[in-house]
Amino acid sequence: MTNRLAARLNAVTPSVTLAINARAQELKARGVDVISFGAGEPDFDTPENIREAGRRAIAEGRTRYTPVSGIPELRKLIAERSVEVRGAPATAANVTVTVGAKGALFNLALAAFEEGDEVVIPTPCWVSYPEQVRIAGATPVYVESTLASGWKITPEALRAALTERTKAFILCSPSNPTGAAYTVAELEALAAVLRDHDCWIVSDEIYGGLVYDGFVQRSIVSVAPDLAPRVVIIDGVSKTYAMTGWRVGWSIAPVALAKAMDTVQGQGATSTATFSQWGALEALRSPATELARMRVLFQERRDRLVAGLRALPGVQCGVPEGAFYAFCDVSAWLGKLTPMDVVLHTDADVAAWLLDAAHVAVVPGSAFMAPGHLRLSYAVGVDTIDKALARIAGAVSTLV
Ligand SMILES: Cc1ncc(COP(=O)(O)O)c(C=O)c1O
Repeated sequence: MTNRLAARLNAVTPSVTLAINARAQELKARGVDVISFGAGEPDFDTPENIREAGRRAIAEGRTRYTPVSGIPELRKLIAERSVEVRGAPATAANVTVTVGAKGALFNLALAAFEEGDEVVIPTPCWVSYPEQVRIAGATPVYVESTLASGWKITPEALRAALTERTKAFILCSPSNPTGAAYTVAELEALAAVLRDHDCWIVSDEIYGGLVYDGFVQRSIVSVAPDLAPRVVIIDGVSKTYAMTGWRVGWSIAPVALAKAMDTVQGQGATSTATFSQWGALEALRSPATELARMRVLFQERRDRLVAGLRALPGVQCGVPEGAFYAFCDVSAWLGKLTPMDVVLHTDADVAAWLLDAAHVAVVPGSAFMAPGHLRLSYAVGVDTIDKALARIAGAVSTLV
């Protein structure tokens, strides 16, 4: 037997960021002061009341299996909150608590996508969307957006991508990697196109709590409630409550799909960890003061980082409405020569060079289907941002 691995993995790309991370770790282990803009998680600690709730759950012996779709208290509160925030009807029966939002998307991929299906994904996109679609045997179909369009797709481009094979459309707003968030009018325009096409509408709202400058964050289901029977909301506590390691997310889906996703989860993870679910319940019950504090800090960092990136020669960068990423165009640096006589051919070359020359870790845009760009996560303090920008500026000045 020569090949014991499943053929379905042949088309799946290992994370492009891993090589950069490995190199960053190597440098750090050698004592080099590496500044990392690579993380996809807040640098804040999980608020103390949530940590205490997790500890309490363990102390009180809540250490056994929970129902597959989550503890009833959490499912009920998620549904109630969704009704408050999104306006669309939801009950606990629509909610599956999952192993992070990624787990919700994975359940969805296995429950709804199969060979012959197309799943329409706006790019730049989060790395896992196309890979999960491929693992399920379906085909990702990309709709490009540009910096000029605020990193948002147009309704015309969406319409052109939809075919009779389209099984789902995945919208991520605010977006990883661009931070772009769709306005009510923009969502209405996409909904008008989707109204004519019978497919699942997947709305990943994991960054929904992190928007700036008073941006009005809305779900597509709020602006187009008639589409609710086809909308799957993906959300979780990872980003808004600084709980990435707790692994709690959820889907809110029409009951038939929710049941199918429960079946997938029941044969895979069973459920997410019991104490994590109690922690997530506490997160949703707590006042939004920590979130408000995080938002203020993120906005300050965003402004500092975007201004600094724009001041670098040849760099173009928009002002993201949300999330904690700046996504900038560095294609002007491609073709340039470093002092080590290395030509920067690709964004991956740029990322590798920045790590070696400036000791700054960033993620190449090609990881998100957007070559020629870099993603910088501003999950670091403003002083560190200033220091990193100075280092990058120094390195860029050596390019010829
Ligand atoms: C757009 C998007 N969706 C989902 C996730 C998954 O989040 P979780 O940590 O809850 O699995 C991430 C995490 O990076 C993300 O960026």
